[in-house]
Amino acid sequence: MQPTFYVRDVPVFGDLILAPMDGISDLPYRLICREYGSAMSYTEFTSCEALLRDVPAALRQLDYHPSEKPQLSFQIFGNDEDRIVAAAQHIERLGPGIIDLNMGCSVSNVSGRGAGAGLLREPLKVARIFSRLSKAVRVPVTAKIRLGWDSRSRNYLEIARILEDNGASLIAVHGRTKEQAYKGVADWDAIAEVKQAVRIPVIGNGDVKTVADIARIKAHTGCDGVMIGRAAIGNPWIFQRKDRWQVTVEDVLALLRRHLQAMLDYYGERGLILFRKHAVRYLQGLPHASALRQQLVTCESVSAFHDHLNTFYERYQKGLLPECEFTPTPPEEEEAWSCDRAATASCAW
Ligand SMILES: Cc1cc2nc3c(=O)[nH]c(=O)nc-3n(C[C@H](O)[C@H](O)[C@H](O)COP(=O)(O)O)c2cc1C
Repeated sequence: MQPTFYVRDVPVFGDLILAPMDGISDLPYRLICREYGSAMSYTEFTSCEALLRDVPAALRQLDYHPSEKPQLSFQIFGNDEDRIVAAAQHIERLGPGIIDLNMGCSVSNVSGRGAGAGLLREPLKVARIFSRLSKAVRVPVTAKIRLGWDSRSRNYLEIARILEDNGASLIAVHGRTKEQAYKGVADWDAIAEVKQAVRIPVIGNGDVKTVADIARIKAHTGCDGVMIGRAAIGNPWIFQRKDRWQVTVEDVLALLRRHLQAMLDYYGERGLILFRKHAVRYLQGLPHASALRQQLVTCESVSAFHDHLNTFYERYQKGLLPECEFTPTPPEEEEAWSCDRAATASCAW
């Protein structure tokens, strides 16, 4: 199989990638998405300061399975040049294939302190960081950026060229500014401009919700890969290029159970609570599941969780759920398919 593109010398087989998502792209979910076709693993973003202090919770975010290598990227964030470089050197011993610097987080206590999207305001600092980073570690270094701080400072082309000139091996671009957070529509024209401006691979990101969107963003931007965030929560089928309406109830329920088990294996009892946010999203594509959703998000025991799923499925099979024919509804007709509201309500990214 030919690689779709390379991150310097790391071959990437495939063009769809699960986005780094705090609280979502942990080891259990990354493994599911890789199995379904995500071509790379990005960890949740992790603080350089916490890593340098070996805070166990931060180190845990860098847990990985050997099968994820070498397309395994540790994503870090920070605002201090020396600390970013030191943190990258500190975590390289853990064996990532790639180290990514977050330059897109819009959350105020990150970007307001000059980390995440805050770095976009300091192009010279970005140049220094990448110049040093690319020499300080052996693995390729990459960046995930937004288009700029606000509508008056959309400096994505300047930043992209600086990244390339200073040793970055890939750029992922979320087509919004920091000020926009998740408002408006991702600007795919800007991603196309970045792709034209640099020779390193460019990953397009923002508002890809369906299989048709994947083809559209690729045609529109010429990007080397497509990163999918919100629409991949509770929906790893997108990496198989399947829309939710094409996934059977049986497949959804089976994966719900399997993902829960993976969470329990990894987190212990806490896994059930942590799984709630995923469960809600798995059910988003299922008609007549609102009662089930309520049950699962309040459920306190694993056996009760399975009982609720069993009862739902029995009623579904017997046709006892209201209008339970499960005629697939194409996404454009079904508002519940849109992930935006739920994701942005719960998260400031
Ligand atoms: C819950 C959540 C957590 C996120 N955490 C991160 C993160 O840790 N690092 C990062 O670079 N981006 C993070 N993002 C941003 C996504 O990677 C992605 O850029 C953004 O959601 C736009 O893509 P989408 O329209 O496909 O969702 C997060 C987004 C969400 C919704």
